[in-house]
Amino acid sequence: MATREGTWRYRNRFGDSFGRTYFRRFGPGVVSSLGIGTYLGDPTAAVDERYRQSIRLALESGINVIDTAVNYRCGRSERVVGDAVRTSDIDRESVLVATKGGFVPFDGDRPADPAGYVRGTFVDPGIVSIEELAGGSHAISPSFIDAMVDRSLRALDLDTIDVYYVHNPETQLSVRSREAVYDRLEATFEQLERRRRAGEIGRYGIASWEAFRVPEDHESYLSLPAILERARRAAASVFEGGSDTAAGHGDVPDPVDSPDPDTAPDHGLRAIQLPFNVSMADAFTMKNQPLPDDPTGSDETRVSTLECARRAGVGVFTSASIGQGSLVEAIPEPIDGELAGDVAAQRAINFARSAPGVTSALVGTSDPNHVRENIAAGTFDPLGATAFDAVFQ
Ligand SMILES: NC(=O)c1ccc[n+]([C@@H]2O[C@H](COP(=O)([O-])OP(=O)(O)OC[C@H]3O[C@@H](n4cnc5c(N)ncnc54)[C@H](OP(=O)(O)O)[C@@H]3O)[C@@H](O)[C@H]2O)c1
Repeated sequence: MATREGTWRYRNRFGDSFGRTYFRRFGPGVVSSLGIGTYLGDPTAAVDERYRQSIRLALESGINVIDTAVNYRCGRSERVVGDAVRTSDIDRESVLVATKGGFVPFDGDRPADPAGYVRGTFVDPGIVSIEELAGGSHAISPSFIDAMVDRSLRALDLDTIDVYYVHNPETQLSVRSREAVYDRLEATFEQLERRRRAGEIGRYGIASWEAFRVPEDHESYLSLPAILERARRAAASVFEGGSDTAAGHGDVPDPVDSPDPDTAPDHGLRAIQLPFNVSMADAFTMKNQPLPDDPTGSDETRVSTLECARRAGVGVFTSASIGQGSLVEAIPEPIDGELAGDVAAQRAINFARSAPGVTSALVGTSDPNHVRENIAAGTFDPLGATAFDAVFQ
């Protein structure tokens, strides 16, 4: 698990090579504002090897955030992430490893009969019921996510996961109401709170594609304050209900005694993930999150997702930070002229890193040369909040 000491040690080793605010506070310590992602690429041994080299290089050059998911590249990405973390020169305590569960994972390659595989591997053994599945391939029920946490711990071959995301819960809105999705999230958060107390995960969160960057009347919309309220309820029921060992996950530390204030009070929902880049900046520009308990007493009723997350103490990790490769050739003017970086990929990364409220910009790469190029983005200072605002005027 990433620790305060481990991540600060990492920052002290690499921080001088980077610009202002390259390392940012998150969780127990600090993380790099550039992370490496592992989504794209074929499920082959050759791509595994390229990711292995890229992740190790990233860790040994100043990136201590790694993002993966149980289903990425048919489960191969998690195995490579764990292998790279275990064999790199960097201590486990210096690194934030994030993974996700929600999409039914394959095991190494794509089966000839995906529907038959899902039925035989997950439905028939009772890991997930047909009613819980959306599109035959996605679920967020507590028992399914619990099984996915186990699967990720095994695939990573690590003792702990620093951030565990429920993956794209908005997918469930195609088969059930928004309230029913919030209900399932609350039940799943209870399970994640138990696993947090058992020391198996550090924090949890929501990874999304559409949920947080569409208008409130959109069919894929989810409210971040509503989800945070469900996390509060889940933590209260687990902490106060004495059901912390109900899932059989062993001894749990008393959170009051925790030296980490981030894990002690309240709930463990401390991160969200959403696409954010020069061409997809809705999380900054769209005021789509209610603010019912505005502590300033202003009459403001809606804020952007980035602002909402910032006020709630939730870290934001951006996906598709370089538009899944589409921004490496050119960035639309006049924005390009405002951004620092020698090449377009670096300027795109610096756009995402500069947005107020963003903790870390994730960039997927299985190419060590791209790792080097992307890390160099961090040698430039990000735009300040006023300059970032001005980009949109
Ligand atoms: N809903 C979700 O939860 C969600 C959705 C999407 C992504 N994610 C996470 O966010 C991470 C980042 O998003 P992403 O991978 O989809 O998109 P991205 O980071 O915007 O782009 C990745 C693509 O850009 C290429 N690339 C990277 N650096 C480059 C460079 N310097 N020059 C040229 N090409 C470069 C990569 O190819 P090479 O391998 O050849 O470098 C890859 O094809 C993912 O890997 C994943 O961990 C989460």
